[in-house]
Amino acid sequence: MNLKDEYINFFVSKGHKQIPSAPVVPENDPSVLFNTAGMQPLVPYLMGENHPYGTRLCDYQKCVRTNDLEEVGDTTHHTFFEMLGNWSLGDYFKEESITWSFEFLTKVLHIPKERLGITVFAGNDLIDFDEVSYNIWRRLGIPESRIVKTTEDNFWIAGDTGPCGSDTEIFYFRSDDEIPKNFDIKDERFVEIWNNVFMQYYKDAEGNITELPKKNVDTGMGVERTTAILEGVNDNYLSSIWKDVIDLIVEISGLPYEGHEKSMRIIADHIRTSVFIAADPAGIKPSNTDQGYILRRLIRRAIRHAKQLNIDINSDWDQQIAKLILKKYKSYYKELEDNYDVVLEVLKNEKIKFNRTLEKGLREFSKFTNNKQDIDATTAFHLYDTYGFPIELTVELANEMNLKVDEDGFKQKFREHQELSRTASQGKFKGGLAGNGEMETKYHTATHLLNAALKQVVDQNVHQKGSNITSERMRFDFSCDHKLSEEEKKQVENLVNLWIGEGLEVTKKEMPKEEAIASGAECMFIEKYPDIVTVYSIGDISHELCGGPHVKNTKELGTFKIQKEEASSAGVRRIKATLE
Ligand code: SER
Repeated sequence: MNLKDEYINFFVSKGHKQIPSAPVVPENDPSVLFNTAGMQPLVPYLMGENHPYGTRLCDYQKCVRTNDLEEVGDTTHHTFFEMLGNWSLGDYFKEESITWSFEFLTKVLHIPKERLGITVFAGNDLIDFDEVSYNIWRRLGIPESRIVKTTEDNFWIAGDTGPCGSDTEIFYFRSDDEIPKNFDIKDERFVEIWNNVFMQYYKDAEGNITELPKKNVDTGMGVERTTAILEGVNDNYLSSIWKDVIDLIVEISGLPYEGHEKSMRIIADHIRTSVFIAADPAGIKPSNTDQGYILRRLIRRAIRHAKQLNIDINSDWDQQIAKLILKKYKSYYKELEDNYDVVLEVLKNEKIKFNRTLEKGLREFSKFTNNKQDIDATTAFHLYDTYGFPIELTVELANEMNLKVDEDGFKQKFREHQELSRTASQGKFKGGLAGNGEMETKYHTATHLLNAALKQVVDQNVHQKGSNITSERMRFDFSCDHKLSEEEKKQVENLVNLWIGEGLEVTKKEMPKEEAIASGAECMFIEKYPDIVTVYSIGDISHELCGGPHVKNTKELGTFKIQKEEASSAGVRRIKATLE
C-alpha cells in the first residue's frame, strides 16, 4: 500500500477525520504565493476557530516551495512536495502525538527503532525544556544517546509571526554504515522525516509570545523523502514516485540517466510542479507576476534542460511527461482530472512562446560573438534573466568561439538577484500569516454584504465567482451579463452602507451541509465543502457558507465605496471596493 493511504488509514483509526488537500494557491490569502506547509490552510483553526470536521484532522497537502529553485537537480530538492499531517485542535497533546508517531513508524512502516534519532526542545528564557516529550521518548525505548536537545532547531513558526511552539523532530539513519551510538544532528546520514510541533503559543510582530486559546499539535512528514527511505534509495528520484518519470525522459532523450541526472531531475521536478500549479482551481497561467511568473520560470527551465538533452523541443515530449504525472496523481487530486486539458494547453502555449525568446536570445548572443567580444557579467545575466539562458549554455557557446564569460561577475549578480527574490518571498510569507488582520476581517464581512446587495439590486441569480482581499481593498468577481449602470452601482453602494449603518449582528452556526443548502445559504463551490459547515449570517440579509473570520457587527466596517466595476471574463464582472 502507498504511504499516503497507510498514513491516512492509521490516523483515521485513531479518531482523525481526513480533510481534503487545500489548493496549492491559498484561498482568501493574497499575501502568500503558495501553501508551503500542511498547517498553512489551518492557521485560523490553530488560532482558535472551530473546524467543521472536529478536533482531530489528518491529510496530505500539496505544497510548493520555490525559494531553492536553483538547488533542484540534486538528490533531495523538489519544488513541489506532498506533506502528510495530523492535527489536534485543542484535543490530544504530546503523549498521544509522540506515541502514535512512534507506532506508525515502527509498527506500520516497520522502521527499526534503532534507526531513529530524536530532537527535543532544550529550553530558553521564555519556554522550559520539554521534559514531557523527552520522557515519552525514553519510555518508548529511545536511549539517551539518541535524543538531542536543541533550542533553535526545536521551535517552529511559519515566517515571523503566527501560531508556533516547541517541537520534537524524528530522524532516520539512512546509510548502510553501522549506526553510531550517539545521534549527532550534524551527521548527514541522519535525515529528518517527521516534525511534531506543539503549537500552544502565538508570536506577534513585536516578538511577544502569548498562549493560544487551545493547545494544538501540528505534524508534518515529507512524502518524497519518506518514500525514498522506505524503498532504500539514496536518490529521491530513484524511488517509485519518480522512477517511471525518469525512465520516460531517458526514453524520449535516448540518453542514460547516469551522466545526465541533473537535467533529467530538473525536467521531472519542474513539469510535475507546473502540472499542479496549472491544474489548481485558482486558474494560474504563465505570466510575469506572482504565481504566473513562477509557473513560467519552471516551464522555461524545463525546456532549457530538455534542449540540453538534445530533445526536439517542438515534439510532444512535455505532453508525454505531463500525461504520465497526471495519470499518477489524478486519483488523489480530482483537479488534475478536471483540468487535464487545461494543463496540457498551458504547457504547450508556454513552449511556443519560449521558443520565440530562445531564438531572440541566440541572436542577442551572436552580436557579441560576431564582434569577438568577451561576455561581461551584465550580458551573461541579461541572457539568463531575459532570454532564459543558463550560464552553462552561455559558457559553452562562448567557448566554441574562443571567448570568455565573466562567470564570477555573473555569480555575483545572480546572488544579488536571488537575495532580492528571497527577501520578496519572505515578505510575502510574513504578510501571509498576518492576513487575518483587522482590515482583512472587515473586508471579508463587506464581501458578504456586497454579494447580498448585488442580488437585491441587479439580479437574484448573481453569484460570487471569486474574491481577493488585502488590507487595502477588496475585489469581488460575480456572474453578470452586463456592465453595471451608474445607478445600479450607486444603489448597491447605498444598500451596503445602509446595512453597515443599521449595526447588524454577524453570527455563525455550524450545521450539516445539506441543511445549510436547503436553508438557502449562499456558497461558491458546494462540492468543496465538508459535511458539517459553518454558516455566517448578517442580520437577516445574508447567509453564507464561509470559514471566516468576520467582524461581530456591521457597524465596525466604516463607509463602503465602489472604486471600479469592470469585466473580468466572459459573463463575469469585477468590483473593486474600499472601506473608509
Ligand atoms: N508545520 C511543521 C513543518 O512544516 C509541521 O508540519 O515542519
